Amino acid sequence: MTTIVMTGGTSGFGALAVQHLTRPAGTRLLLGARSPGPETFPLDLTRLDSVRAFAAEVRSQLGDSRIDVLLLNAGGIRPDDTGRTPDGYETTFAVNHLAHYLLLRLLLPAIADKARIILTTSGTHDPATGASLAPPRHADADLLAHPDRDPHRHPNAVKAGQHAYTAAKLCTVLTVRALQADPDLEARHLTAIAYDPGQVFGTGLARDLALPLQLAWRLFGGPLGAPIRRVSPVLNTRAAAAAALTDLALGTATPPPGHTYAALRHGELTWIDPSALARNDELAQALWTDSARLVGLTA
Ligand SMILES: NC(=O)c1ccc[n+]([C@@H]2O[C@H](COP(=O)([O-])OP(=O)(O)OC[C@H]3O[C@@H](n4cnc5c(N)ncnc54)[C@H](OP(=O)(O)O)[C@@H]3O)[C@@H](O)[C@H]2O)c1
Repeated sequence: MTTIVMTGGTSGFGALAVQHLTRPAGTRLLLGARSPGPETFPLDLTRLDSVRAFAAEVRSQLGDSRIDVLLLNAGGIRPDDTGRTPDGYETTFAVNHLAHYLLLRLLLPAIADKARIILTTSGTHDPATGASLAPPRHADADLLAHPDRDPHRHPNAVKAGQHAYTAAKLCTVLTVRALQADPDLEARHLTAIAYDPGQVFGTGLARDLALPLQLAWRLFGGPLGAPIRRVSPVLNTRAAAAAALTDLALGTATPPPGHTYAALRHGELTWIDPSALARNDELAQALWTDSARLVGLTA
């Protein structure tokens, strides 16, 4: 029996991946989601108490068994950085990074040796990808949790919202880096991967953005997207993004030694380097410690 614990499996390419992941006989999927469904357990990533309750439910469902694949795919972007969670943290950062960090920490003791841990990030964390979103200036967890304390916060609300997203996705890559560097986890032969699906139109990601963006997102998710996909390496279909996520989760695709960043380009998994900031070990360690404090754990 292969046990998979997943977030972000109710919409977009994550929902397509669920169909592949549950196909092999002997697979058990424990899905954390806001909306109820089969094998689905309540999880709202805007609330750290919900993350703790979901982790406790997973531990209880597991009994003596262990997690073979932890797939943290949920995420979202808001039109600005003014949203605050009940815990008092900026919403985009809290959902994309802090909640998943806490879930990872709470579930690590229940993960099987040789398990795979996949966290979905975004190429927008890297200015070199050429995305139109404001690139991250830093990965300071305290400033990202409280952007009003950031002396260099972008004066434009939309750009500030984009920064919250790209910086949170930088934090995802750094979290995987810190995880892979942990000697205890190395001894357990865990594989940790930050997955960048490229740009995937037609998912629910644009649902909170301005109406023209929502419409363009929907339009290019259909046949109109095909011509631009041919010229841009970062554009991928939902099917390709789901297939690659499935390959990483089931171990059909494995990283070359020393690589933890998988980027989907022209529909194929590549193992390029993430951004310079994402390769900074000191930054990764500082983020790990600061995130632990923000979610109420010791480092
Ligand atoms: N599409 C792209 O171009 C692109 C590019 C780079 C990275 N990504 C990343 O890929 C992942 C999947 O995105 P997508 O494009 O497939 O978007 P999507 O269709 O909006 O899917 C997002 C998933 O995250 C879940 N989610 C969002 N907020 C949540 C919360 N507060 N609590 C629990 N679950 C929550 C959603 O659940 P509901 O069904 O309840 O909404 C949904 O299952 C995200 O991490 C996204 O940042 C996407």
